[in-house]
Amino acid sequence: MTGSASSGIAVVTGAGGGIGSAVARRLSADGYRVACVDVVAEAADATAGGLSDARAFRCDVSSAAEVDSLRTEIAKWDRGDVRLLVNVAGLFFEHSIVDLSEADWNRLIGVNLTGPFLTCRAFLPAMIAAGGGCVVNVASTAGLRGSRNRAAYSAAKAGLVMLTRSLALDHGKDGIRVNCLCPGLIDTDMAAWIREDPAALHRWEASTPAGRMGTPDEMAAAVSFLASPDASYVQGTVLSADGGVMA
Ligand SMILES: NC(=O)c1ccc[n+]([C@@H]2O[C@H](COP(=O)([O-])OP(=O)(O)OC[C@H]3O[C@@H](n4cnc5c(N)ncnc54)[C@H](O)[C@@H]3O)[C@@H](O)[C@H]2O)c1
Repeated sequence: MTGSASSGIAVVTGAGGGIGSAVARRLSADGYRVACVDVVAEAADATAGGLSDARAFRCDVSSAAEVDSLRTEIAKWDRGDVRLLVNVAGLFFEHSIVDLSEADWNRLIGVNLTGPFLTCRAFLPAMIAAGGGCVVNVASTAGLRGSRNRAAYSAAKAGLVMLTRSLALDHGKDGIRVNCLCPGLIDTDMAAWIREDPAALHRWEASTPAGRMGTPDEMAAAVSFLASPDASYVQGTVLSADGGVMA
């Protein structure tokens, strides 16, 4: 356990997904009460249902109105003592920029970048008033370098990296630590595209120092560290957990 019984509430968006559900389980084991947030209500329910002190909340993080309602609903839950916000919710699909509709651009930016803006705007004031807190944003190695057929996704994740660094500068003095995790290729539904192409997976594994995809539990361990007192001097940083892809 890296937190404590007084760790308060951890809000985890995308908690119904591969990485988000692992993060929710890990933070629950760390001593947090976990608000499991997902746009798919059943997925949030499934994650929260397996934890001892957790609640599921359906919310589309790209909607300001829904995020504001989320804050209200969480505030009704045992005073809404939010100490940790983990922005995991994400959307990915391959695209060529010349074929990408404005609506799909807005969807990719909306979930991957506007979402963390809206949740930070919603939850930071209470953390500041409480004297401190922590934000972990889950971006991607796609936000650290260009990659083919994912220009909008990469742009959103690069934006999330800079949102992280800028908020660390703005709110460090308020006792808020803001850090970013950049996963490499992690074995979840989001990475199904490479599972469907065994030759591409083999090529990718051969070119990667770790020789394999990462696991959701490995990402959860990194989030747990960034949120923990062990990371008390880790501020505004970008941690790649990518099996060496960025080495
Ligand atoms: N899997 C990978 O290889 C990989 C690599 C780098 C970064 N990431 C990032 O990690 C995060 C988690 O990805 P994952 O692999 O667990 O994918 P996933 O598809 O398993 O989970 C994503 C979750 O986000 C939820 N979600 C989507 N849109 C939402 C919205 N508007 N509001 C609230 N929830 C929404 C989905 O319902 C889903 O439960 C994402 O931000 C993703 O970009 C994943």
